[in-house]
Order: sequence, then structure tokens, then C-alpha cells
Amino acid sequence: MTETATREFTTVGVIGLGTMGAGIAEVFARNGFAVIGVEQNDVGLERGRQHLEHSTGRAVKREKMTREQADELLGRITLTTDMQDLAGADLVVEAVVESLEVKKSIFRALDDIVRPDAVLATNTSSLSVTEISTANAKPGRVVGVHFFNPAPVQNLVEIIRTVVTEPDVLADVQELLRSLGKNPVVCGDKAGFIANTLLFGYLNHAVAMYEGKYASREDIDAAMRFGCGYPMGPLALLDLIGLDTAYEILDTMYKQGRDRLHAPAPILKQYVTAGLLGRKSGRGFYTYEAPDSPVVVADAQTPSADDKPRLRHDIKLVGVVGTGTMASGIVEVFAKAGYDVLFTGRGQDKVDGVVATITKNFDKQIQRGRATEEQKSEVLGRVRGTTSLDDLKDVDIVVEAIAEDLAIKTTLFENLDEICKPGAILATTTSSLPIISMAKVTKRPQDVIGMHFFNPAAIMKLVEVVSTVATDEAVTETVLALCDEVGKVAVKCGDRSGFIVNALLFPYLNDAVKMLEAHYATADDIDTAMKQGCALPMGPFELLDVVGNDVSLAIQRELYLEFREPGFAPAPLLEHLVTAGYLGRKTGRGFRDYSAR
Ligand code: CAA
Ligand code: NAD
Repeated sequence: MTETATREFTTVGVIGLGTMGAGIAEVFARNGFAVIGVEQNDVGLERGRQHLEHSTGRAVKREKMTREQADELLGRITLTTDMQDLAGADLVVEAVVESLEVKKSIFRALDDIVRPDAVLATNTSSLSVTEISTANAKPGRVVGVHFFNPAPVQNLVEIIRTVVTEPDVLADVQELLRSLGKNPVVCGDKAGFIANTLLFGYLNHAVAMYEGKYASREDIDAAMRFGCGYPMGPLALLDLIGLDTAYEILDTMYKQGRDRLHAPAPILKQYVTAGLLGRKSGRGFYTYEAPDSPVVVADAQTPSADDKPRLRHDIKLVGVVGTGTMASGIVEVFAKAGYDVLFTGRGQDKVDGVVATITKNFDKQIQRGRATEEQKSEVLGRVRGTTSLDDLKDVDIVVEAIAEDLAIKTTLFENLDEICKPGAILATTTSSLPIISMAKVTKRPQDVIGMHFFNPAAIMKLVEVVSTVATDEAVTETVLALCDEVGKVAVKCGDRSGFIVNALLFPYLNDAVKMLEAHYATADDIDTAMKQGCALPMGPFELLDVVGNDVSLAIQRELYLEFREPGFAPAPLLEHLVTAGYLGRKTGRGFRDYSAR
């Protein structure tokens, strides 16, 4: 408590002990508060109790707390089905279902139960805190405190200030949350606040991708985990959030903003109606061992061992065209995995450069004790460079990684078609060009495929394997199996702009720019919200400055052109930064200024 704080909080009421409420109760009890947990009936109470016991039990098992501490923590929580028991609470946090009517009835009822100076908070994810507050006779004491799931893990709490929230209430709640070790970010009362506004467009897009059978649930999730370093994929995250809650959040956001990208994907409604709510009901996009269990079990959609892709072509010699960052990474990947690699460049100096890069990477690894001189010479022994494309006549597969220019690439494919032996697979690592345009210039479109590696190729696990309408299934299978052989995680998708990762990532980054442009939150608050609320490795502005605003703008333009979604139109601020030459770290200035650092 600081001098500025006017209230002493000791007893905290939590209404609703579901996914969020139980976690919130745990956070307060862990910090020494007396907690009164209220549920609507004994079934809800039992579920809340089990959630708390499970969570503290896991902490004991992981030696994060002793059994005695866990028992003390649980001892501080009183469970009840009678709201009247909240009479002595200094603060009440409401965490019931995302329904305006239910929430308003609770805030109305609290008038006659709690003291006049008690603070009332709602954990709503998207509903109007102002509207909820007006159900209470003292709307000035109402704030939003939006915890993130799981509440004991995520540090962010968005505090939603309405136009009538009293300043001392805001200050006291901020102070209280800091004392819990949370990082409160204050924002205005707009559906979705900061994090959900950015998160749910992305989640809904992933659902639409799945519903449209563009990629499997496993591949969509793997793409975001291994391509972007997200802790979990979007469909698994929706199961964690709860599909009913997610539906309500999207619905509210849509009704407020009328952005069709927020209109809940139809399949969400079907799942909710069928009672498939995600982890909490034991089934959502995935099937779980039991309700509330995080353990995924196999179901009808789970790929069986028989579906594991096999090498349907004999691959011994791998060709790589190009000598840039991606090409040299790809050479390294194949050579390290034991393949003989023949790569071609436009000059001997460029060819030598690739060998020098691989040598340098190895020397670094040797210095760190992660590789030996023998391994280095063995791998380099498998790598051969040439300046003549004609030398690729014997390769079993060729991966091109030259300039991202359709005219240059199609010319190369015409040449490869002439040079490579029949049956050789011709792969491109393009990140944005239509692969079918490259296939079309060859006499073997069935053998042309995309292998979208991520930068740095030697380190990033993901490869998007992109089949066109003409690609032979056996070619796709071989490339999937080959990725597996070289230690990559392959995901399968179709030939359209952005594939999986870029199509999901860049509209989200663009939305963050729009939010900044609308002055709803600062770049720092937005970055913090996404890192500490959703455990993303980088905030959107950090990432934009690393990727380069010019690159991001080009991708966003491609997506807009392909899908014609009004919501994909590049944010004017992004265009302006690019025009100004503020491209990010590479120019010393982007969303942030790096010149003085
Ligand atoms: N309750 C309490 N603690 C939990 C927990 C839970 N439900 N789940 C995991 N933990 C703890 C574990 O005990 C473990 O703690 P220690 O490190 O102290 O041992 C830690 O979290 C990591 O857990 P695991 O090792 O089991 O698993 P993980 O590393 O795969 O992490 C995860 C699991 C924390 C869920 C992680 O995947 C993650 O952060 N995912 C992103 C979740 C996210 O995006 N949340 C925001 C959703 S949006 C929202 O909340 C707003 C809204 O309005 C909908
Ligand atoms: P949930 O369905 O898991 O739990 C809701 C609980 O509220 C249930 O246990 C239900 O029995 C109880 N309840 C319903 N009416 C009640 C009443 N009148 N009195 C007492 N208890 C009642 O939902 P959840 O995911 O925990 O969501 C709760 C709130 O938190 C929602 O407003 C949601 O938008 C928000 N939220 C959810 C997440 C998330 O990831 N799930 C994250 C942040 C905020």
C-alpha cells in the first residue's frame, strides 16, 4: 500500500469460479488475501474447488510451493453459493459467463450486499464496462479488471476505466494489482480492449482457415508455434479460452465495430450449440482426456501412424539455386542432415560466400562446444558449389531461393525444366508469389511445389509445403517426408497468398498499427499487452521493426489484393512510415527510434 492508495483491501470476493474466476481467486489467495468464491450452484462450486486443488497441486508437484503453503492458500478461500456472504468484501471481482444480462443482474444485486465503499470489478473480455456499471447505484466504483488466461500465469491485467470511474478507485486498483505482481495497463472502454481486439481477429481468421479446409488443425497450430514461436497455436488457444466465451467476444466486437473479420466463423456457433466448448467440456477443436484437462487425446481427425508421409522419390542429391541468406541456410540444413548438396550461384565469389557462411556458423558452434571440427569437415565435404546451372542435371530435387520476382523465377523454372532430369522435384521457397505461375512454364507442373522455409533456415523449424492445383500427391508426400528427414516441422497448405503463417500474422500486425493510429493505446502498451497477456515472444511493434515495415507493407498489400478484404487494407500509418524511410531496425528508425541505442 502506498500513501496515494486510499483503501485497504483485505477481503476479496470472486463471483464465478470457472476458467478465469478460479485462477483469479488463486492469485489473490496466493498473495495473502481472504477470498470468498461464489458460484451459482454446488456443481459450479465443486468444479471451482477441483480447479483450485489441481492448480495448487501442480505447483506442489513442481516444487513451486510446499504442501503446507498450498493448504494455507486453499484455507484462505471460502466457497459459497450465497452472494450475501460477500457483505464483508473490500473488492468484488465478477467472472461469470460473458453475458451482459447476467453481469448486470449481479452488479444490481451487489448494491444491497456490499459496503458503499467496496470496489466492484468485472473481468469481462469485451462487454461494455460502462453499461455493466450503470446497473449499480454507484457506477463510479466500477472498473474492468481484465485478467488473462491462465490468470496465475499471465502478468498483464487490463484495467478498463469508464467515463465515470472515480480516479481514486482506479488508483487503488492499479496499486492493488501491482502488489499482486501483475502489470496493469489502463485502457478505455472499447469492445476487446487492447489484447482481444488484436488477438481475436487472428483467432477468427484461423478458424475460418480450418473451416475452409485450407489446412488441418494440427498444421495451423504447428505453423504459428514453429513459424512465430507462439506458445500455442490459435485453435488450441481457443480451446483454452472456451469456445462459448470466444464466440461472445467476437460477437460483441463485431456488433460494436461492424468489421466482418470479427463476425464469428460459423463453425464456432456450431461447436457452442453442440456443447463442444473446448477444454472445459473436454472437447472443442481437439479432444481432451477429460473436462478441464489440458491433455489432448487422439480422435477421428488425428493423423494416424499410417498417414505418416513417406519418401515416394529416391532423394540422394539435393540442388539449391541461390547464394543469399535463405539459400545458404537451406544448403546447410540439407548437408547437416546427410544429403549431398549441389548449389549454384551467379559468380565464384557468391559461391565461395555460401561456404564461408556455413564455415562461420560451424566455427561459432564449435566455440560453444556444440559441434566438432570433424563434423564441420564432414558437412562441408557434402557441399559443392558451381556457377553453372547446367550442373543441376543429376539432382533429385532442386530448391530455388533467388530474388522474389516472378519474371526472374519463371525464367529460372523454364531453365530448370530443360536441365533437370525427368522426375526431379522443382521446389521454390517463395513467400508471396503464386507457385502455379512457376509450374505453368514447365512441362512438368505436377513436379513443382513450394517449400517455404523461415529465416534463419538453419534454426527455424517450420517449412510450409505448398501444393498447387497441379502438384502430384506423391511429390507433396515426398517433400513432407523430406522435411521430416532434415529435422523440420512441415505443414501442408494450398497455393494462396500468405500461406498459413503470413496470412495469420500480418493482418494482426496491421491491426496493431491501426490501433496505434487511432490513439487507443501506445506502442509500448500494445507490445506489453501481447507479450504479457498472450505470452507472445515479441510485441507487434517490436516485430514490425525487426521484419522491416517495407517488407510488412508489401506482404499486407499482397494479402489485400488476393483476398480483397477491406479489413486487410494496409494501415495508412504503415504506408507513411515506409514513405518516410522509417523501415525499422535496419534504417535506425521504425515505430521506435534506434539511432541513440
Ligand atoms: N493455472 C495455473 N498455472 C498454470 C496453468 C493454469 N491453468 N497452466 C499452466 N500453468 C503454469 C504451470 O504450472 C507452469 O508453472 P511453472 O513454470 O511455475 O512450473 C507454467 O504455467 C507453464 O506451464 P506448462 O509447463 O504446463 O505449459 P506451457 O509452458 O506449455 O504453458 C501456457 C502453458 C501457460 C498456457 C502457455 O502455453 C501460454 O502462455 N499460452 C498462451 C495463452 C494465452 O494466449 N492466453 C491469453 C488468452 S486471451 C485472454 O485470456 C483474454 C480473453 O479475454 C479471452
Ligand atoms: P466459464 O464458463 O469457464 O466460467 C463461468 C462461471 O460462472 C461458471 O462456473 C458458472 O457456473 C459461473 N456463473 C454463471 N452465472 C453465475 C452467477 N449468477 N453467480 C455465480 N456464478 C455464476 O467462463 P470464463 O472463461 O471463466 O469467463 C468468465 C469471464 O471472464 C467472462 O466474462 C469472460 O469473458 C472473461 N474472460 C475469459 C477469459 C478466458 O480466456 N476464458 C479470459 C479473460 C476474461
